[in-house]
Amino acid sequence: MRFLVVGAGGQLGREFSKHLSLQGLEFLALKRSDLDVSRFDDVYRLVRDYRPKVVINCSAYNQVDLAETEVIKAFSVNAVGPYNLAIACKEVKARLVHYSTDYVFDGTKQGLYTEEDAPNPLSQYGKSKLLGEELIKQVLEDSYLIFRVSWVYGEGTQNFIYKLLQWAKDREVLHIAFNEVSVPTYTGFIVEKTLKALDKGLHGLYHLVPRGYTSRYEWAKLALKLLGINKLLIPVQKEIFNLPAKRPDFSAMSCKKIEKELGEEFEEWMELFKQV
Ligand SMILES: NC(=O)c1ccc[n+]([C@@H]2O[C@H](COP(=O)([O-])OP(=O)(O)OC[C@H]3O[C@@H](n4cnc5c(N)ncnc54)[C@H](OP(=O)(O)O)[C@@H]3O)[C@@H](O)[C@H]2O)c1
Repeated sequence: MRFLVVGAGGQLGREFSKHLSLQGLEFLALKRSDLDVSRFDDVYRLVRDYRPKVVINCSAYNQVDLAETEVIKAFSVNAVGPYNLAIACKEVKARLVHYSTDYVFDGTKQGLYTEEDAPNPLSQYGKSKLLGEELIKQVLEDSYLIFRVSWVYGEGTQNFIYKLLQWAKDREVLHIAFNEVSVPTYTGFIVEKTLKALDKGLHGLYHLVPRGYTSRYEWAKLALKLLGINKLLIPVQKEIFNLPAKRPDFSAMSCKKIEKELGEEFEEWMELFKQV
């Protein structure tokens, strides 16, 4: 099975490259400087020439606050990009794997979000990711896998733990939101389950997260404790930061559907986090 990984310079893209090369699988990993997913001609030519069996889209515009002003940029990566990839995949009969987000939800549900729940994004980032999902579904009837993931962490800078450690470098007191709740999801977990899902021939939309959920505050507390970093952590309402983009209060998703399809029970997010 020949893989094409796009957006390969990010935290998930790097994890894919690592796993695919460890497993001796044939793949081509392209960073943004090698392939810009928003450029249709380049995407189409590349996919047509390389003829992958699976295209894994790790590219994203993930700057949630900046997306409120850089709306066109966010939509061109998160919506036009997947659309271009879907058209190219259709042409060569490749399967497209794409990642979306818990930020497609408004966070007002009293319970874990399932794949049946209606999205209602609060931010331009969430809207752009939702449009990406919809465009893929329109182009590829069933040869796609869309995984909604949340609070992704791994090797890289686009994650909460990296930011927390940066803040901890020059502050003694850290204010962290307690009313923002979701599921921290390790890149290694995402890659492992994605490859299993491909092996099983799954298609469709799935929530791909470990079990359980936590707040930003509780996650930060655990991270600093595990790393032996002694700082004063103060739980605060996220609204005091006055950030440009609105975030959901409770956007934790249920992994039941994908667990059932893979025939396994996932670990709790905290167990995975302690291992990393
Ligand atoms: N990080 C999270 O907490 C989180 C939460 C929910 C969902 N997700 C989703 O999970 C997936 C993986 O995210 P991640 O955490 O690995 O993100 P990441 O580390 O920010 O990686 C995204 C990569 O996409 C690249 N990129 C940006 N614009 C591009 C373009 N036009 N063409 C090609 N590549 C482009 C970026 O390159 P540059 O660095 O050069 O810009 C970066 O290497 C994404 O779909 C994301 O939306 C992430």
